[in-house]
Parts: sequence; C-alpha cells; structure tokens
Amino acid sequence: MQHAIPHSRDKIFSPVIRICHWLRFAAIILLLVTGFYIAWPFLTAYGGSDNLIQGWVRFAHLISGFVLIAVTLARAYLYFFSRSDIERRSVKDVVNPKSWITQIKSYMWIGKLNKAGVYGPLQFVTYFGLTLVIVFMCLSGLALHANVYHEGLGGIAWTINEWMLVWMGSLAAVREWHHIASWVFIIFILVHVYMAVWTGIRFKHNSVDSIVSGYDYHPMKRD
Ligand code: HEM
Repeated sequence: MQHAIPHSRDKIFSPVIRICHWLRFAAIILLLVTGFYIAWPFLTAYGGSDNLIQGWVRFAHLISGFVLIAVTLARAYLYFFSRSDIERRSVKDVVNPKSWITQIKSYMWIGKLNKAGVYGPLQFVTYFGLTLVIVFMCLSGLALHANVYHEGLGGIAWTINEWMLVWMGSLAAVREWHHIASWVFIIFILVHVYMAVWTGIRFKHNSVDSIVSGYDYHPMKRD
C-alpha cells in the first residue's frame, strides 16, 4: 500500500505568464518552420511562377512575427511591473557568486538548490540572453518587412529600424543574420525542454507542469 507523501504547493506562474509562454512557443515554432521555408521554398519548382505558396508562408511568418513582438512587449512590462516579484527576486542570485556555485554544485548532485526567486542564476542569464536574441529577431524582421511595405506599419518600422541596415552594411546582411540567429532557437528549445524535465526529476518538483497549471509542488523533505 502506498503512503501519501506530504507536498508543499506554491503558485508560481500567473495565468497571463502561462498564456504568454505558450503564445511565444507557438509563434516561435511557426516562425522557424515558415522562416526556413522562406529561405528554401522547395514546394515551388525552380524557375516556376507559382508564388502563391510563398505568399501564404510569408503571411504566416509575419503574423506570428507580430504575435512574438506583442508578447515580448507584454512580457517585458510584466517582468518589471507584475504584482508578484518572483521573477525579479532572481536577480539577487545572479549578482551573488555563491548562488552560482550552489546551482552548479547542485546540478552535480552536491548539496541543495536554494533560489531567491523562481529561476536559478544560470537559468536567468540564459533567458535574458534569449530575450536579447528575440529583440534582435524582431528588429531585423521589422527591417526586412519595412523594405517591402513602405506604408503604414512598414513605414513606422522603417523609421525605427533604418539604423539596422546602416549598422550591418546591407539588407542582405540583415537577412543573413536573421537566418543565422534562427538556429539559436532550435538549440535553446532542445536544451530548455531537456532541462525542464531533468530538473523536475533531479529536484523532485513539478517543473514542466507548472507552466501549464501555474503550481509548483514538491515533497516537504527535499534533497
Ligand atoms: C524567432 C523569431 C524568428 C525566426 C526564427 C525567423 C526566421 C526567419 C528565417 C529563417 C527567414 C529566412 C531568411 C532567409 O531568407 O534566409 C526569415 C525571413 C523573414 N522574417 Fe523572420 N524570423 C523570426 C522573427 C521575425 C519577426 C518578428 C519578423 C517581423 C515581424 C520577421 C520578418 C521576416 C521577414 C519580413 C523575412 C523576409 C521574408 C522574405 O525574404 O520574403 N521575422 N525569418
């Protein structure tokens, strides 16, 4: 017969944070698929005149691109101004060398993991780095978009992003770096999913499901 193990249950992610996570996930997957298709439009024969497929794929890329921009802005606002400071508290660990040592040691099964907020320092710095890449993708994507749509939103994007072409030297370079940086997301997703599952097992807590349910739970007695 199994005995119930006492668990603690903490609310860590609000509904809006969870919605943003999954919206961003959907947008990034769609951007990767459509982006690589734009780079290599294999469904249309070489020299063929069927541009409709490319048009729809570009359309899906732009829509998901604007979703990513909106979620990035919303998430930046929530990071600084949300009522819960569970994310902001993690900065304390980032600036504390002891917390880095504790986290790295705990990953090698030496000692416990003590976090001030919801993220460990290595995790926080990784997410911050990814945010910078997302900002680059949004700015370079808007610069590419503005060179096709000169009016309306495209026109506004051009005024904001003109410097990008000057900085990189050409539109071709912007496109090249927009393409190269896409690989960061593929590497990130693989490592992120692996680490989410692994830390759940290692630290006996509700790692993956917390971004669905919002709750973290773990046995009262932890190692
Ligand atoms: C995770 C984010 C993103 C990824 C992985 C991604 C990926 C890609 C890739 C691989 C290409 C093809 C580049 C090439 O031709 O070699 C591309 C093109 C493009 N992307 Fe993105 N992108 C992202 C975000 C965005 C955003 C936010 C926008 C703007 C709303 C955007 C707008 C564009 C445009 C306008 C093109 C050029 C399409 C063309 O040449 O016809 N992208 N993207």
